[in-house]
Amino acid sequence: MRDQLTFLLNGEPVVVRGVDPTTTVLRWLRETRRLAGTKEGCAEGDCGACTVLAGHLSDGRIVYEAINACIVFLPMLEGLSVVTVEGVAGPGGALHPCQQAMVDCHGSQCGFCTPGFVMTLYGDYMRADKPEEAVGIDETLAGNLCRCTGYAPIRAAATRMYALPQPAWDTRRYGPDIVAALTAIQHDDEVEISGNCRTMRIVATEDQFADYYAAHPEARIVAGATDVGLWVTKQHRELPRLLHLRRSRPASERKEEATWLGAFATHAEWRRSNRLGLAELLRRFAGPQVRSFGTVGGNIANASPIGDLAPALLAQGAILRLRRGEMRREMPLDAFFLAYAQTALRPGEFIEAVRTGDIDEPQMFAVYKVSKRFDDDITAVCGAFGLTIHDGDIVRARVAYGGMAATPRRAIAVENALVGKPLTRATIDDARAAVARDFAPISDMRASASYRLDIAQNLLIRFFIEYTAPETHTRLVGPRAAFGG
Ligand code: FAD
Ligand code: FES
Ligand code: FES
Repeated sequence: MRDQLTFLLNGEPVVVRGVDPTTTVLRWLRETRRLAGTKEGCAEGDCGACTVLAGHLSDGRIVYEAINACIVFLPMLEGLSVVTVEGVAGPGGALHPCQQAMVDCHGSQCGFCTPGFVMTLYGDYMRADKPEEAVGIDETLAGNLCRCTGYAPIRAAATRMYALPQPAWDTRRYGPDIVAALTAIQHDDEVEISGNCRTMRIVATEDQFADYYAAHPEARIVAGATDVGLWVTKQHRELPRLLHLRRSRPASERKEEATWLGAFATHAEWRRSNRLGLAELLRRFAGPQVRSFGTVGGNIANASPIGDLAPALLAQGAILRLRRGEMRREMPLDAFFLAYAQTALRPGEFIEAVRTGDIDEPQMFAVYKVSKRFDDDITAVCGAFGLTIHDGDIVRARVAYGGMAATPRRAIAVENALVGKPLTRATIDDARAAVARDFAPISDMRASASYRLDIAQNLLIRFFIEYTAPETHTRLVGPRAAFGG
């Protein structure tokens, strides 16, 4: 058991002891290390002003991801390589191409957002061996907000940086020396960090995790902290005991099972693997910084009525594997959500993995997220539809919605209106009418009750048109794909 954290900060090993484990990375950087380039805008993961890079080892390389320092707790950095805006420029203050391009394109006005944008661009630059490997500019920048420039100059900088010569010193953040330094601090020990009457256990394996949680069911699991971080920064909730499975865990822990998807997989990892055909939905999920650390298990366990994965998984008949110590049980996702923010998890039990259920291919499946903004916005209504057709009739229907009730939930009356009928507009109209029997949504700041009902009904039409008359629809995607708008 260790009582100290070890990670790399701008290439240098750092050891931290006796810190309050709910200290955010942002606060520690600014107040303890006096690295004030990283800014606080919203303190809730929305604006990206606090963006830093966190790198973990993968197949002998360091893979960097942009994260929101404002909601990640310091102990979550165990075994990672962290780069802040102070670590971007080269010897003598030579600007990196991602900085020079921002200067050349006039990408900064008041400058408050600029360090965050620079870090996001730097992360993209390091990930892409070639410019064409960089993901789309808008997607890269979706987690950063600017209130001055109007984005055009920043978008121009995101392209221009690849046209500038790559400096030789750039490799210091991912070359052999830093890979060796990061490798040297890896270990399989458990770490416990205590301070200010709070404790966080940071474990390296799921077995350690299960043992500790069974023994300390009062502990609060913190996976990616993209919810829990806000409990601290916004709600000032008291969290005396925390448990975290670290991001830098050994490669053997990151094994993929053929049918089960580990609940500690991040949204970014899930999106890359495109398991269950949800990659396009996950592109609409938060911004890149949240997807880097936010996990599948956290999204299900928080039982949010507007969580995005649950409707899609309900429509796919997903099964959860729950674990307490050495005991495991399987549960259909349908049975997991009990009431608002309440689940069927027992004390000391956690979600270990998820798999889809019994709907066989080929099937029709789509999930639509409707929100006010395309990028980085919370859902107003999410509708997911999974149909199986045999001899012209719908033989199986799974329809689920988020944003329509206290939990994500299947629409049983809608399903009954579909099953046993041909997939025609008349059938869809019956199903639309049934939505009002399944749900009595509420009005809130995201949408009114009547808007929610209209949207939930109209998504059925959209699904129908896309599958039956795709030529009339301008945004067709293939079967089992998912998107929203
Ligand atoms: P954490 O914050 O670590 O934990 C959340 C809860 O789940 C806690 O109660 C924790 O104890 C529990 N928990 C975590 N893992 C497990 C497990 N394996 N077993 C049992 N309990 C567990 N959500 C959306 O659905 N769509 C969005 O578009 C979206 N956008 C967001 C944008 C921003 C800016 C932010 C800050 C959040 C957003 N979220 C969104 C919410 C959040 O990112 C997700 O719900 C995320 O998946 C939570 O995962 P996490 O690992 O960060 O959970
Ligand atoms: Fe806004 Fe962190 S300060 S995302
Ligand atoms: Fe002012 Fe972006 S330059 S917020």
